[in-house]
Amino acid sequence: MNYNKVTPNIISQLESIAGKENVYLDEEHLKQYSHDETEDLKFYPEVIVKPRTSKEISELLILANRENIPVTPRGAGTGLSGGALPVFGGIIIAMERFNSILSIDERNLQATVEPGVINQVFQEAVIAKGLFYPPDPASKGSCFLGGNLAENAGGPKAVKYGVTKDYVLNLEVVLPTGEIIMTGANVLKNATGYNLTQLIVGSEGTLGIITKIVFRLLPYPSQTLLMLVPFASAAKACEAVSAVFVAGITPSAMEFMERDAIDWVLKFVEVNIEIKDTIQAHLLIEVDGNDADVLMKDCEKISEVMYRFGCDEILLAETAAQKENLWKMRRRVAEAVRSHAVYKEEDTVVPRAELAKLLTGIKEIGKKYGFRSVCYGHAGDGNLHVNIIKEQLSDEEWNTKLPLGIREIFELCVSLGGTISGEHGIGWVQKGYMDIPFSEKEISLQKGIKSLFDPNHILNPGKIFV
Ligand code: LAC
Ligand code: ZN
Repeated sequence: MNYNKVTPNIISQLESIAGKENVYLDEEHLKQYSHDETEDLKFYPEVIVKPRTSKEISELLILANRENIPVTPRGAGTGLSGGALPVFGGIIIAMERFNSILSIDERNLQATVEPGVINQVFQEAVIAKGLFYPPDPASKGSCFLGGNLAENAGGPKAVKYGVTKDYVLNLEVVLPTGEIIMTGANVLKNATGYNLTQLIVGSEGTLGIITKIVFRLLPYPSQTLLMLVPFASAAKACEAVSAVFVAGITPSAMEFMERDAIDWVLKFVEVNIEIKDTIQAHLLIEVDGNDADVLMKDCEKISEVMYRFGCDEILLAETAAQKENLWKMRRRVAEAVRSHAVYKEEDTVVPRAELAKLLTGIKEIGKKYGFRSVCYGHAGDGNLHVNIIKEQLSDEEWNTKLPLGIREIFELCVSLGGTISGEHGIGWVQKGYMDIPFSEKEISLQKGIKSLFDPNHILNPGKIFV
């Protein structure tokens, strides 16, 4: 695609829209906004603008359209598929000044927020009112709600409570052509026309820029119990997962970590835990609710299932600190691998009863192509993160052979009834594989929607589709 460069004249127009103090051109900012958390990718923007109102964003997009300059919207930059990377340069619209929780409606269990609010800040604000916003990606301490919507983020609690899309009722969106729209209504049921709200959720910043979000909330469950279940066989751990649901229990988290994942994270964070040499995988299982006796009974039932699949001795976390430690260990796996290795992260997902086949298949494909993978993730959702480590692979193998191995992994996902991303999105890094889950017609329908919203392809170009 051919775009124009950002000229001094355009810079002064950006400054008059958003204020001189909110337009950044210095090397330090350009560097900081050249990457997100996706591998070691770097693409430099030409300029960063931090607007404060939807009207300013509208004016910025009208300008970008007129001048044919690419615009990349950006939340906190914690994405794992390169969605916030300005791959053609141009303007980054950084959303950090949209950081207000506008209202928490305790009568209707709803909240209206701006997209630059940090996930955990929002969670804590609603907990203070006895309410619950469940989606909790591993990066919850830093990621923005707007980014969570763009990628339809999940996290451990998705297994019981669903993902980001399940909490979004209505959105204010600035279209690439500058119009400001509302996508729905602040209601729990809505059978009124096409569902534009859900079209925007997960569209990875390619259809519009979200400027206001109306969420639905739940009452906060006051109690949790957490168990760590070791297995000598990783495949058996995976098989045990679906059996828990078949036994009639829906845990509030059901996470999987293979041995390597824990070994990596223990090099990185201090958690006091002893693991026998024979153990190859763990399940981290949480139940939540308001009645401690019921939760204890659920744990007993889960333990029966686990022992049936040959688990080792189960650890029931006794204290809040112990629970916090186990969660810290789980949440920081991705970060630990990232800081220790050159790697690629895949976000495979299959129907949960196929998880063992997926894991076994990934290991076989790894043997064939000569790569090691560290697997962990949201087992209850059949969502397995696969970190492929470069180690002894040559650059040539990494760049040319590995994509073939990844293609085989994704083909396996689809053949098991799954798809190629559960919660990290397609963005820049997975777009070459979109022909695996979709036919040409299915892709052309999606591209048609993109062109309808963004006829000149100025908003987050280069993402999702080749
Ligand atoms: C996690 C992120 C990487 O589950 O999705 O840790
Ligand atoms: Zn995850």
